[in-house]
Amino acid sequence: MAEAAQDRTGDTADRAREAAVEAALGRLGLDAKASLLSGQGMWSLPALPEIGLESLVMSDGPIGVRGVHWTADDPSVALPSPTALAATWDPELARRAGVLLAQEARRKGVHVLLAPTVNLHRSPLGGRHFEAYSEDPYLTGRIGTGYVSGVQSGGVGTTVKHFVANDAETDRFTVDNVVSERALRELYLAPFEAIVENARPWGIMTAYNSVNGTTMTEHRYLVNEVLRGEWGFDGFNVSDWMAARSTADAITGGLDVAMPGPQTVYGPALAQAVRDGDVPESAVDAAVRNVLRLAARVGILEGAGPVVTEPPADVDGEALARETARRSFVLVRNEERGGAPALPLRPGTVALAGAAARDARVLGGGSATVFPAHIVSPLDGLTAALPEGALTYALGADPNEELAVADQGFTLNAVCYDAAGAVVGTGSSPNGQVQWMGDDLPEGVTHDNLHSVELTGTFTPRESGAHTFGIKGLGTFTLTVDNAVHFDGVQGAEKDDPFISFFGAPVERARVELTAGQTYEVSLRYVVEFPANIPMKVVGFALAHQEPQRDADELIAEAVEAARAADTAVVVVATTDRVESEGFDRTDLRLPGRQDDLVRAVAAANPNTVVVVNSGSPVELPWREDVAAVLLSWFPGQEGGAALADVLTGAHEPGGRLPTTWGSLADAPVVQVTPANGELPYTEGVFIGYRAWERAGRTPAYAFGHGLGYTDWEYESVEAAGSTVTVRLRNSGERAGREVVQVYLAPVEADAERPARWLAGFAAVEAGPGDSAEAVVEIPRRAFEIWDETAGGWAFVKGSYEIAAGRSLADRRVSTIVEA
Ligand code: BGC
Repeated sequence: MAEAAQDRTGDTADRAREAAVEAALGRLGLDAKASLLSGQGMWSLPALPEIGLESLVMSDGPIGVRGVHWTADDPSVALPSPTALAATWDPELARRAGVLLAQEARRKGVHVLLAPTVNLHRSPLGGRHFEAYSEDPYLTGRIGTGYVSGVQSGGVGTTVKHFVANDAETDRFTVDNVVSERALRELYLAPFEAIVENARPWGIMTAYNSVNGTTMTEHRYLVNEVLRGEWGFDGFNVSDWMAARSTADAITGGLDVAMPGPQTVYGPALAQAVRDGDVPESAVDAAVRNVLRLAARVGILEGAGPVVTEPPADVDGEALARETARRSFVLVRNEERGGAPALPLRPGTVALAGAAARDARVLGGGSATVFPAHIVSPLDGLTAALPEGALTYALGADPNEELAVADQGFTLNAVCYDAAGAVVGTGSSPNGQVQWMGDDLPEGVTHDNLHSVELTGTFTPRESGAHTFGIKGLGTFTLTVDNAVHFDGVQGAEKDDPFISFFGAPVERARVELTAGQTYEVSLRYVVEFPANIPMKVVGFALAHQEPQRDADELIAEAVEAARAADTAVVVVATTDRVESEGFDRTDLRLPGRQDDLVRAVAAANPNTVVVVNSGSPVELPWREDVAAVLLSWFPGQEGGAALADVLTGAHEPGGRLPTTWGSLADAPVVQVTPANGELPYTEGVFIGYRAWERAGRTPAYAFGHGLGYTDWEYESVEAAGSTVTVRLRNSGERAGREVVQVYLAPVEADAERPARWLAGFAAVEAGPGDSAEAVVEIPRRAFEIWDETAGGWAFVKGSYEIAAGRSLADRRVSTIVEA
């Protein structure tokens, strides 16, 4: 925060930048100004050499920096999922993650990161739940503040997204979320407000959805009055990709930049609207000023000094990814087995099972995808960490009920042809996918000369049997495997969704007997058609694949056999990218495939069974009381398997605490993600997450804030003096540890309008065995306030409050009463 304070407007460097911005603005004509507000392609704005402005480049976000191509050619460090980052409850670690991402961005020529996502976990069914931090606005704001401060300390901008209430994916382009002003202020806007206040973000991204009848790219009230007016946000406002729908309403609604280009509602259309008298030129100037200010801040406007002149020292990305992962893992259960807790692992043999133990799911799908240089799976991590001969592996159960991306064993390139059949260019194809949006085309290829694309290369299976191949996308395809044509025809749409080729389901097209270890030729040819319902040229399709389906009972029996013979069984269960991704919501919280059966069978064979849950967001764990330990590993990033070995062997303790309540779908109080007649009413008001669970009087599987380490803590006292809460505690276990001390505030007189209690602050302490520690937690004034809808402002609610400190919402250890 000291850094932010130093950087307040009014500081000399800011004033110099403002002067440079005004001078540059004054030299631009209307057409140039309008062009600067419109993407020149998928990820950038046009350069304006006449004012010494370079092209501003943006990129996703949030767990890595993909860069301007959807390929694996220039790999990115992949950090754990945002849910994992929030599970660290460590804003300083989030800041360090941000510093690494700024370093990645600079390496890739990116000026603005399209992150962080600070929407809330309103319903566990939200498809992008993994990409947001928490159900709690305060925790979200703290983590988001750390992240934004870190990225910007590296001289790279952020766009805090998606402003606002983009909490689910169903009909996301059109849904109108109907939210009370109070719920908006106390929940959904709160993280944005905290980040604007504490980290001064240089950008914001307005969402696809509407709020209370107005689409967010035109929301004058929330953007111009609240974000800019009340909170003093001075950054740029970019639309979510293709979210801008109108010229005059968007510009007067406070939208600065319409992305992606080249065809947008701005550019020539905006200049014309000014000439026609529909838009005042001052509105265009205001938007251009915001863009130029951003350009000045990141150092691409001549004559303006960037905010950061000396980037921070280099960060070791692999080490940080590993540290963050182990600090995020949440140990929700660790029962005694044979006189000691199941974890850390005791010396002896380990039987590892689960498809995700071998093919780890390290990140969530959609625009958050990056391509890391390598992935350490749990099998890799444990093989390296355990003595030779101590580890066996069995697949056990495959969560992929559908065809998945063609990655394992495939080496594919995308060869582009013109209409005459001549090769015009070649691109790489990660995971059998082609996703070329806008101008992101291989060298030599243009939208005019491109007629067809052939994904071609080899496949070397690791299992013998009937392999299934499929196609994702719309249009005319020819699929050839081992020199035989298996499909030659047209694949149609199941739904009129502009992104169906990215988010739709693959269609099975061939089943071919193949032998493990042998190399086969594979080709998928696609005749390019540009979808008419997207104002941008997109080439998107994919080859999908599924390994031979072995008898599910046999697979489970093999894993059971191995588990019976081992000292400890470790089962890794996971979701798939057909379960958790962008563009759709979940329909249930079950683990796909026969994974529940696998866990039950292994646990019956070996009482010392540890389950590792590889998912970005809550799943049901119906067998949780029957196993010795349950460790949530989220989507753990590229070093996930190494971090897992660190934690299982006890080299490090798992550091995570739940940023969101985990429970069954049947018990979850707020689940609705499907609009009716275009509207999704947030009827629950301010009661989401644990606020709703408490009100409903239901007990979840694992409470908000819960997470065990490898030592024990005794809470000794809590004292409140003014806004400072001091908690004394002692490490009563046998090894050094770290504890996240959580402070909850509860009105003594129950008030039906308010939650029973809420998170008011937290701080972490570290202590050696037997040592005492003191956590000092500052409670913000806002913790005592509610939004008064009648007065249209924050109201401090006087009265008696219980301040309780403890290990989770449900495990509060010490408390005191204060009069506020
Ligand atoms: C997502 C954004 C993302 C953008 C660019 C959109 O579909 O909602 O989060 O930044 O695409 O990839």
